Amino acid sequence: MNKVTVVGSGFVGATVAQYVADKDLADVVVVDIIEGMPQGKSLDLMEAAPLAGHDCEIVGTNDYAATKGSDIVVITAGIARKPGMTRDDLLKINANIVQGVARETVKHSPDAIFIVVTNPLDVMTYLTWKTTKLPSSRVIGMAGVLDSARFQAFIGMETGFSVQDIKAMVLGGHGDLMVPLPRFSSVNGVPITELMTADRIEALSKRTRDGGAEIVALLKTGSAFYAPGRSVAEMVESILKDKNRLLPCAVLADGEYGLKDVYIGLPAVLGREGLKKIVELKLSGAESAELKKSADSIRENIDAMNKLLVTA
Ligand code: APR
Repeated sequence: MNKVTVVGSGFVGATVAQYVADKDLADVVVVDIIEGMPQGKSLDLMEAAPLAGHDCEIVGTNDYAATKGSDIVVITAGIARKPGMTRDDLLKINANIVQGVARETVKHSPDAIFIVVTNPLDVMTYLTWKTTKLPSSRVIGMAGVLDSARFQAFIGMETGFSVQDIKAMVLGGHGDLMVPLPRFSSVNGVPITELMTADRIEALSKRTRDGGAEIVALLKTGSAFYAPGRSVAEMVESILKDKNRLLPCAVLADGEYGLKDVYIGLPAVLGREGLKKIVELKLSGAESAELKKSADSIRENIDAMNKLLVTA
């Protein structure tokens, strides 16, 4: 049986554990610093197993020893931005958490593939890559699958077509500067540009860019977790089953799209070794410019994080 470690047993971490087990993909170890929480949520999930009909073992712990030999490590540990907290405050706190988690987990699972979920996503994925010193093919960020799923959901709500037939591609950083690509989004092969006006597509693209904030505004005390958790499970499945799915993920650009040394959302092929390939689409001038702007903003944040970690 494959083994997946999920660090952080909060809303996203627990949802990842639930979907990974429900899809019968792997045994799951859930780790948290809070005593009792990972144990409690894991026991609850084990009690749901007879109903879900899977035989995956789900264990909660505060001890990294239990994560030994994991095939995949998912990092969701961190805090959400609270009122009065600057972006830099959040960056510093989550960078310290993610750095500590990456060090501990790679010690016990040097052959694992890492999927990073903690925000700010692209920067935390870069940090995990630097900290673990693993090949970049084994450190991947989850954002594009979620952002694309949101775009797909909005296209479905707008057109009334089954979401089963809707595919969308969203590239770039996981934030205000993400790049939804209507030209590469379709309803069963029919480009959405044939089905909707440019204005409506722009409105749905904007809603996608603000998708995380829309949920936060409604929940008030937390951020999204169902769609993020499910997005991670899709990536886990493609890796463990070596499915070669083409999924937008935060990956290290090495010259693709004219970008280098930055983690950013690009179309990625995921299989048993992790990232197998970055697929280069022919972007228009405007799309390329948006992607570059997004990469520049991530680079600025990486620089800011490096300064904060030095002074920490
Ligand atoms: N080691 C292990 N777990 C930690 C650590 C640490 N050093 N620091 C914090 N945690 C745990 C917290 O105890 C908490 O249970 O991480 C968990 C985070 O859970 P939530 O606060 O519920 O946050 P969640 O909604 O799951 O989001 C987690 O994913 O989508 C992103 O922006 C989101 O960065 C956030 C992350």
